Amino acid sequence: MLEGKRIVLGVCGSVASYKGADVASRLTQAGALVDVILTSSAQRFVSPLTFRALTQRPVCTDMFEPQSAVAEEHVELARAADAVLVAPASATTIARLAHGLADDMLALTVLATVAPVLIAPAMDAQMWEHPATRANAATLRGRGVVIVGPDVGRLASGRSGAGRLVETAVLLGALSQALGARGDFAGRRVVVSAGGTQEPLDPVRYLGNRSSGKMGFAIAEAARDRGAQVTLVSGPVALDAPYGVERVDVRTTAEMAAAIGRATAGCDALIMAAAPADFRPERTADQKIKRTAQGLTLELVPNEDILAGLGGGCIKVGFAAETQDMRENARAKVARKGLDLIVANDVRAAGAGFGTETNLVTLIDAAGNCEELPLLSKYDVGHRILDRVAALLAARG
Ligand code: CTP
Repeated sequence: MLEGKRIVLGVCGSVASYKGADVASRLTQAGALVDVILTSSAQRFVSPLTFRALTQRPVCTDMFEPQSAVAEEHVELARAADAVLVAPASATTIARLAHGLADDMLALTVLATVAPVLIAPAMDAQMWEHPATRANAATLRGRGVVIVGPDVGRLASGRSGAGRLVETAVLLGALSQALGARGDFAGRRVVVSAGGTQEPLDPVRYLGNRSSGKMGFAIAEAARDRGAQVTLVSGPVALDAPYGVERVDVRTTAEMAAAIGRATAGCDALIMAAAPADFRPERTADQKIKRTAQGLTLELVPNEDILAGLGGGCIKVGFAAETQDMRENARAKVARKGLDLIVANDVRAAGAGFGTETNLVTLIDAAGNCEELPLLSKYDVGHRILDRVAALLAARG
């Protein structure tokens, strides 16, 4: 999403100013062209040289500086920007922007741009909670500015509260969402499931599988970056939800079925990347099962098939994680579960399957046609699946 995009990064004076350097670095690594504006207070905390070295571009520090590349075309940055991100944003800059002042280069650029504006506040909790700051933030929100954070945690004062700059990864997610807001899924609701489910045996043990959730989380992120409103129904996984995605946590297959039933009401597409457990113990012991010399036999009963049980209405995409006869098994699942598309993969192939960052999949449609994709990142696989979903939605009118 950020590749080749012009991002204006405004950095204000704050103990968190140094974190602006990480934001500049990560944006540059993601392929963005980053034009940094440092307010005069920011320059008391961090040096323009740091940002110039990280972005390989001139840094704007003074709109009246005659040598500055932007001195004459003072609104040029605003015109060229695909998005403006202020991180960290101080209470003073938030007030300045809310009141439409143009008395420094950052405020002027925000006033002169039609690009999306995102603001990540960082200040003491009492300053953030002051009615003046709250009102200024509400004014900006009312004008469509995205306020990201602040996080709750330890502050420079030593106290805890709301006022920490959010993590850089969250800012990159928020920017991607803003840049993709008018994508081909704008106005669409997409439900994605991810991770494996856990069926409790007793209070400390469960039956589960090795699904990491990475594939589903990547699809959710890709759908968000195309403008979709995304609900991510996830089993227990060690992943943070992508910024801007509604996350519903579940544990068992029955809980996942109920959550998906609720989330899919009126949705445009369901993409089932989850690996729900097909069986559950017939009984869950109230107390921890004790070791015995005789061994243990478990009686399992089948769980419901979530995809097969869902009525029509939305585009249904399933996954088929196979270890043998991949295409035949996947085609049978398309018919049995009433799918529009299935994403088949041999989980034992190199670079594919559980826990990896990449996947090697074949897309099979309802007519049985196969499209073999090359080894791709899971995020790119997500986009290829969404390309097919977009075409199916268009065909439905
Ligand atoms: N699925 C589902 N409900 C289940 C099990 C699976 O909706 N109880 C979905 C999965 O999310 C996936 C598709 O069905 O999108 C295929 O899952 P898979 O485990 O490959 O197929 P199963 O139907 O479980 O068949 P088998 O385990 O015999 O391969």
